[in-house]
Amino acid sequence: MSTDLSELFESNRRWADDVQKRTPDFFTRLLTQQVPQYLWIGCADSRVPANEILGLLPGDVFVHRNVANVVVHSDLNALSVMQYAVDMLMVRHIIVVGHYGCGGVTAALQNRRIGLADNWIRHVQDVRNKHRAWMDGMPDEEMRLRALCELNVLEQSLNVCETTVVQDAWERGQSVVVHGWVYGLHNGLIEDLKMTVASADDVLAAYGLAVGALKNRFDSERKQGRP
Ligand code: CO
Repeated sequence: MSTDLSELFESNRRWADDVQKRTPDFFTRLLTQQVPQYLWIGCADSRVPANEILGLLPGDVFVHRNVANVVVHSDLNALSVMQYAVDMLMVRHIIVVGHYGCGGVTAALQNRRIGLADNWIRHVQDVRNKHRAWMDGMPDEEMRLRALCELNVLEQSLNVCETTVVQDAWERGQSVVVHGWVYGLHNGLIEDLKMTVASADDVLAAYGLAVGALKNRFDSERKQGRP
């Protein structure tokens, strides 16, 4: 077994050189402050790296990632990231980004046991159970998985809206907009699931509309066959 990761250090040096050549003061500028506009809450999946997908540089996006981009009301890790991002960095947007073909969502859908993470994935199973009757009417597992990946984004976006961090920000008139997106591993593109919330009064209506639009879209796909 190799214990040598020198290729990663070489790759790091090449990257730092490139950045330095393109923007000579890049690192010294970032040394003193970070002013990201965005908090990205995404999946830990190695194929969904926030900065690369958005074409953004270090300093541009604050990131929290976990298995299946889950936001749990009592998760101090996620809450701490969110609190720092909103209260200290004053990010303008919090974006929950799921992705199609998510392993965590697949495990939740299929009741697959993978170990300790089963306890985490229970949260995604709660989402599945909430919409189970509707998903049971789908013709195949592929469609159910796509639907659950999207529903999970909307549910976790709702959870973001309900945190004390975001509720308090809205209460004091700070501008924070919550978004729900889904990323396609197959084409590298992000889609907006149109749950965009900018105030406490809009949360439930925005969630309801987004879930309704999602279900309509899948229902018409089911009627017409796949596009
Ligand atoms: Co995933």
